[in-house]
Amino acid sequence: MENFTYCTPTKLIFGKDSIKNLPNVIAPLGKKVLLTYGGGSIKKIGLYDEVKSLLSDCEIYELSGIEPNPKYTTSVLGGVKLCKEHDIDVVLAVGGGSVLDCSKAICAGALYDGEPWDLITYKVKAKKALPLVTVLTLAATGSEYDCGCVISRTETNDKVGYLDENLFPNTSILDPRYTFSVSKKQTAAGAADAINHIIEQYFCEKHSDLTDGMCESAIKSLIKNARIALDEPENYEARGEFMVDCSLACNNILSIGNSPSGWPCHGIEHALSAYYDITHGEGLAIITPRWLRHILGEKTIERFVSFGTHIFGIDSSLGEKEIAEKTIDEMYKLFESFGIPMHLREVGIDEKRLGEMAHHIAVNEGLENAWAPLSEKDILEILEASL
Ligand code: NZQ
Ligand code: ZN
Repeated sequence: MENFTYCTPTKLIFGKDSIKNLPNVIAPLGKKVLLTYGGGSIKKIGLYDEVKSLLSDCEIYELSGIEPNPKYTTSVLGGVKLCKEHDIDVVLAVGGGSVLDCSKAICAGALYDGEPWDLITYKVKAKKALPLVTVLTLAATGSEYDCGCVISRTETNDKVGYLDENLFPNTSILDPRYTFSVSKKQTAAGAADAINHIIEQYFCEKHSDLTDGMCESAIKSLIKNARIALDEPENYEARGEFMVDCSLACNNILSIGNSPSGWPCHGIEHALSAYYDITHGEGLAIITPRWLRHILGEKTIERFVSFGTHIFGIDSSLGEKEIAEKTIDEMYKLFESFGIPMHLREVGIDEKRLGEMAHHIAVNEGLENAWAPLSEKDILEILEASL
């Protein structure tokens, strides 16, 4: 095992009616609340009204319309402005990963005098941030239980991951019933996202029996429960287990003590959604099998064999190469069976800007230092194979 320091200070409150805890969670943090949300799904499911009535003692300001792949210029700067104008005490994010991510950047920017982009791009380290409480409505990213956010700046085709310990939510409320209304498309994309989060941690140099076992269990649970949720969107047990899997999949607990992988699929996908505003989980589902095929070699094959035999039940008496090939095929078929479009062309991406994106990724994502290093040429080949 590698040396590590591990701390997740976020309190998770899970289950039916866990929203009732909201007044007690908010009270010690202050009275002036910035309520942040997306394009309206929280109103359709009655959650907006419920939150407003539970917090009737608070002074509530609102930032609505946070976009999927949240945008810096509109949503982050809009939220920072509201926080400064109204001297906000606490941000309450109600929604999916995009709302939560945007709110984290707002929390940091609100207590910083300069341009928040400096924080997001690590030019300046945030000294502090406003407290954040989240109510999750879409299981996927794990943003409710990690200290990261991903912010898009359309003007420069940037989609940047920003991690800072100040950004861990104070508390996240998880009621699986709020995810019953998530569409098949977003449920499938969420499953692909969380599965890929685990793959990004599993395919690395140093790992342990503990981390392999945790990763394998979590992926099996995600596959099983995603299938149920796609068929029965209101199955509480499946939505619940899926939700907790997603929360744990991205906060490093599953790879505790592992060596870093460099998160290559995310590095590549972030450019796809920066340039074309596609759904993050769909981009990952398309890239993952092509990336696997590209990195298969003597150094990496042990991971393929372990993954394929444990996750897909591939016969361990077959040759290593055959197991690895079958693993890649199974990965592709799995995402396809969720109903995800498996080619870039199907999500509106053609060959025109592949070279430009490959260059952007090579310059910005540091993938030449990944466990399986990727040069600009490698990245371009993966993108071309994904068309
Ligand atoms: O905007 P509203 O109306 O709320 O609709 C959203 C949105 O259109 C809808 N939705 C959310 N909850 C719903 C619902 N529809 C019906 N019923 C509900 N209960 O779903 C759509 C997508 O929402 P979004 O928040 O964009 O999805 P997701 O949670 O997948 O978040 C994706 C963003 O998170 C980033 C991604 O890059 C992307 O920008 N990521 C964040 C990470 C993190 N913080 O750790 C890690 C991830 O790897 C990822 O990069
Ligand atoms: Zn992701």
